[in-house]
This record gives sequence, C-alpha cells and structure tokens, in this order.
Amino acid sequence: MKKLATTLFIAALLLPLTSLTVSAAGGAHVEHSGANINDTASLQRGAKWYVNYCLGCHTISYMRYNRLAEDLDLTEEMVMENLVFSDAKFGETMDIAMDEEQAKAWFGKTPPDLSLIGRSRGVDWVYSYLLGFYKDENGGWNNTLLPNASMPHILWPLQGIQTPVYRQEAGEGGFTREVIDHFRLTTPGTQSPEEYRQTARDIAAFLDYAGEPAKLKRKGIGVWVILFLAFFTFIAYLLKAEYWRDVH
Ligand code: HEC
Repeated sequence: MKKLATTLFIAALLLPLTSLTVSAAGGAHVEHSGANINDTASLQRGAKWYVNYCLGCHTISYMRYNRLAEDLDLTEEMVMENLVFSDAKFGETMDIAMDEEQAKAWFGKTPPDLSLIGRSRGVDWVYSYLLGFYKDENGGWNNTLLPNASMPHILWPLQGIQTPVYRQEAGEGGFTREVIDHFRLTTPGTQSPEEYRQTARDIAAFLDYAGEPAKLKRKGIGVWVILFLAFFTFIAYLLKAEYWRDVH
C-alpha cells in the first residue's frame, strides 16, 4: 500500500514534466501567450470570438452555455443574444450541426473538437498557431506550427495576410536549407498587429478555461490555501516563541 502511494506520489510529481515535453515537441516556434484564465473580460471576448469564428467548425462538446454564463459573469439573456446563433437552448452543450462526413469532404479532415486543446497542445501553442498562418508560394494557407494544415486562416480579415521572408540556414551534411526568418504583413487586416495578438490571447484563454472550467475555482481556492498556510505559519511561530521563552 505504501509502495503504491509512493509510486502515485512520484507519478504526480512527474506529470507536469511529461506535459511540458509534449508541448515542446510541437516544434516550430511557440511563443509565450500571456493568456490569463482569471481575466474575465478576456474570457468573455474569447468566447465571443470563438462562437463567431470557430464554433462553425469546432465543437466544444464538454461546455454548456449555462455553465459559461455562470463562470464568465454573464446573464442568460446576454448569452442567448450574443453567443448562441443556433437553436441551441441555454442548458445545452456548445455543439454544432455540421455533418462530419461533409466536413471531411470539404477540408480533407474533420475539424477536431477543441474541448481539450488547451490541455493537449497547451495555451501557448494555440496562441502561436493563431499567429502562425501565412500565404505560401502556392497562394494557399499554411501554418508554421501545423505545416499544410487543412484549416483555412479564418481570422485573416482581422490579422491581414502575412507572407514569409526566408533565410538560409546550414543544415546537415553541409547543405543549406531555407527556413522562415520572419513574416511581412503584406495586406493589413482590420486589427493592428497588437490588437490581433490580444484577440489570439483571448481565444487561447477561453480554450484554456473550456478545457478545465474547474481551474477557475481551483485557482481561486489556491490563493486562500496559501494565505491560510502563511497565517498558520505565523501562529506556529508565535506558539514556538511562547514555549521556548520559559526554556531559555
Ligand atoms: C472552416 C472550418 C474551420 C474553422 C472556422 C476553424 N477551424 Fe480550426 N481546424 C479546422 C480543420 C479542418 C482543422 C484540422 C487541421 C489539420 O489537422 O490539418 C483545424 C485545426 C485546428 C487546430 C489544431 C488542432 C490540432 O491539435 O491539430 C486548432 C487549435 C484550431 N483548429 C483552432 C481554431 C480556432 C481557435 C478557430 C477560430 C478562430 C478555428 N480553428 C476555426 C477547421 C476550421
């Protein structure tokens, strides 16, 4: 029994490490997003971008509208007016009516449910993915983190169109290869680059929240636990001083 407990304990310690390596293996260039799950305004904006631009293809089937309302400080009316465009009811999950077979025929792939994307790929990955769309030489959309992604850059009217500027890099065996050095914004979008970063950050934060709604509460509780521990340490210290006074 003790052995099992020790194993579980060690596994729990190592768990964050494994998820770290998984997201690091995502490749290309993952930027720090600064997405903040405790920023309710950011989550609200993220939800709005999501239903307007993503939900048409990607369900978040673990999320219910009424749960969203509760966690994001929204009333039922606000949710039904601003976030529900289908005939879904308040208590229903954020599903879509898209036919999977048809989607596959259109995109070559069924757009995945994004309920757990914040956990599987990580928020920073999602953020960087939304910044990583570009028009390649063939005039098609491509993505630095998901090469040849079959998802069109749905947010391009906001971000604009960026094209890559390449540089030569020494590869194996004395060969040089072309890698993307940076992007040039060839067609500006309706948002400035900074505004677009914020949009991507909001969506990433929303998906982080959607992957684990309980995180909001857990983090809130965490603060109290730390405060309690600090307070308790203080009391223990006073007590120790009291005991030792007679001994000295
Ligand atoms: C027109 C349909 C469509 C829309 C709209 C759309 N996507 Fe996608 N998305 C796809 C498809 C198809 C894929 C699969 C790409 C692939 O694997 O090649 C995908 C893949 C993804 C992935 C990568 C999943 C993974 O782990 O491989 C993320 C993240 C993602 N989409 C986020 C979004 C977000 C955020 C939005 C809204 C801003 C959005 N998508 C809007 C079709 C869409």
